[in-house]
Amino acid sequence: MTENDSDERLSRRHYLTAAGATGVAALAGCANGGGGGGSGGGEGGSGGSNELEILHGWTGGDGQAAFQSMLEGFKQAYPDVTVNDKAIGGGGNTSLNTRINVRLGNDNPPSSWAEWPGKNLLQFTEAGLLGDIEESVWSQNDMKEAYVSGPQEAAKPDGMYVAVPTNIHRMNNLFYNPSVVEEAGVDVSAIETPSDLTDALAQVEENTDAVGMAQSSQSPWTTLQLWAAIYLGQAGWDTYQRFMAGEADVGPIADAFKTLNAYSDYFNSDAGTVGWQEANNLIINGGAAFFHQGDWAAGMYAGTDDFEYGTDWDCVTFPGTDGLYALNMDSWVFPSNNPSPEATEKWLTYVGTKDAQVRFNTEKGSIPPRSDVSMDEFGEFQTNQYSDFQESTAQPPSVAHGLATTAEVLSNLQTAISQSYSGYSDSAAEETAQAFVDAFDN
Ligand code: GAL
Repeated sequence: MTENDSDERLSRRHYLTAAGATGVAALAGCANGGGGGGSGGGEGGSGGSNELEILHGWTGGDGQAAFQSMLEGFKQAYPDVTVNDKAIGGGGNTSLNTRINVRLGNDNPPSSWAEWPGKNLLQFTEAGLLGDIEESVWSQNDMKEAYVSGPQEAAKPDGMYVAVPTNIHRMNNLFYNPSVVEEAGVDVSAIETPSDLTDALAQVEENTDAVGMAQSSQSPWTTLQLWAAIYLGQAGWDTYQRFMAGEADVGPIADAFKTLNAYSDYFNSDAGTVGWQEANNLIINGGAAFFHQGDWAAGMYAGTDDFEYGTDWDCVTFPGTDGLYALNMDSWVFPSNNPSPEATEKWLTYVGTKDAQVRFNTEKGSIPPRSDVSMDEFGEFQTNQYSDFQESTAQPPSVAHGLATTAEVLSNLQTAISQSYSGYSDSAAEETAQAFVDAFDN
C-alpha cells in the first residue's frame, strides 16, 4: 500500500524545518519529557496494543518484494501479532522522512519505522525519542556477536542501542548495459578515473542511439550521492573524511561538481522529472549505457524477468574508488513513546535474525550486516559484493543518506543543491561547493 495523505504535501519550507535536527527536537521535545523512556517490556509493564504499525519507503521495484518477504517471515514466526504496514512511496525516503517528522511532532509515533542508522539517528536520540533495546533485542539471537562492527556501531549512535540494521547497500557502483557498451566500443575496464567516464559517455552517444548516463535529478539526493561518488573517486577517502568532519576545502568539492557537469551533457533529457526507477529502466531497455546508484538498482534488476547479471546488466566499482565499500544502511527503530512495545520488540528481534536478513537482502540487492548469514542463498552479484566488502580497506558512510552527517547538515546540503546547483555551470559548481562548506556551520 502506498499512502499519499495530505500531511505529505507540506511546503518545501515546512519540510526543511521538520526535517532538521532542531525541527524534530523542538516539535517533539514535549512528548516524553526528554527522557530515554520505553525500554524492554514497555512502560509500566504494559504491552500496549498488539497491533504493530510499521512504516517504510519501499514501493514497487524499490524493495517492496524484499520487505514483503521479510514481513512474511515475521508473520510465520509471530502469528499472534497483527501487522499494519505502510509503504510511504518516494525514492530516497523523501516522503517517509516527512511523514515520520509529522507523526513525531504530533506525539503519535508508529511502532517502528525504517530509518538510516548512524549520525542520522542523533536527531531522535538527542530529543529522547528512541528507547533502549540492548536487553530486549540486542541480547537475543547472538546479535552482538554476529553483527559486523560498522552496522553495530551505527545502531547505537550515542552509545545506547536504539535500532536494528537489516542491510548494507553499496553506494560506489557503476551499473551498465553490456550490449550498449559493446556497441559503443567502450572498454569498461579502462575507465580509471571519474573524468575517464566522461570520455566513455561521449563515445556511447557518438556510436549508439543510447544516452551515455541514465540519471534522475528530480530530488536532491540523487545529485548528492553522485557528487559523493565522484568526490570520493577524485579527492580520496582522507579528503572525504575531512568533509564529514566539516573541515573540507572548497576546491575539490567544486571539482567534483564540475565533473558532474560534464556528465550532465550525456543524461537522458527528462532527468529532472523522472525518479530513479524510471531512470533505471533505461538500463533495462537499452536506452542508456551507464547508471550510478546504490545497489538497490540491482534489487530492481533481480525483480525483472529475463534480465540476468553478467549478460543483460553488469557493474564495476565507481572509477577511482577501488578497494572502498561506500555504504548506506537501513535499520528499524524503537520509538520510546511506543504504542505497542511488546509487539515492536518481537519485530525488532525478528529483523535481526538470519532468516529475516536472507529474506530481505536477497531481494533488496544488499548484503546482510550479520557475519553468520550463509551467502549460499544469494546470487552471484551479491556474492561478489560480499567479497568486496570483506576485502575493503574502508567503508565510507553515505552523505546523501545521513550516515555521514547529522540530519541538520544533510538538510543544508540538500538545500544547497536545490538552491545553488542549477544549469550545471562552473559558477553553480563553485557556489554549491561554498554552500557545502558552510553547511557545517551552526
Ligand atoms: C534509500 C534507502 C534505500 C533505498 C533507496 C532508494 O533512502 O535507504 O533502501 O530504498 O533509498 O529509494
